[in-house]
Amino acid sequence: MSAETALQRWVFGYGSLIWRVDFPYRQRRRAWIRGWTRRFWQGSHDHRGTPAAPGRVVTLMPDPNTTCVGVAYQVDEPVFAHLDHREKNGYERCDVNIHFADGSVHGTVYIATQTNPAFLGAASLDAIAAHIVRSHGPSGSNADYLLQLAAALDQLGAEDRHVTALATRVRSGPDESARAVAESVDLQAHRDEQRQEQVG
Ligand code: SIN
Repeated sequence: MSAETALQRWVFGYGSLIWRVDFPYRQRRRAWIRGWTRRFWQGSHDHRGTPAAPGRVVTLMPDPNTTCVGVAYQVDEPVFAHLDHREKNGYERCDVNIHFADGSVHGTVYIATQTNPAFLGAASLDAIAAHIVRSHGPSGSNADYLLQLAAALDQLGAEDRHVTALATRVRSGPDESARAVAESVDLQAHRDEQRQEQVG
């Protein structure tokens, strides 16, 4: 391994790290990890909610029969200081094997376990959707987080029934501001697709 690659590491993103990329990277690749399932069970005090009214964001729960699809980034070591700060509300770095269509690498994933103080845990899909619709924080609305994630998974060709079921509820629900967010996310996804077609 050269001195240059020794300072680079892989990080796997399964939530906002897929689509809100506010850090430099060397490579970005569709990837998956085994034994984990994505759930909107983590409270967000700092991004999509507030300490008084936390939003709901994703974490990973152990599930031996499941594969979680997301995106892996090869980053320079100093990027982890930024990611640690961004994911500070309950997430911990965990070691993981990251799989690609043509191989695998060892890397890091940020997981918020059940013992962190912001963990909210399971609820019905209707209750989670209603919670998301009413939550807002410094990074924007919780509906935006959910619908951006649903659009990004769609672009990756990664079906996630939990995310799809929540997005369907928020899109078809009575809340007008959530429906407006859905329209703007759809428009952006459509533009991205057109741009990709033009480039390709
Ligand atoms: C991730 O995206 O990998 C972690 C959870 C999040 O920041 O949404």
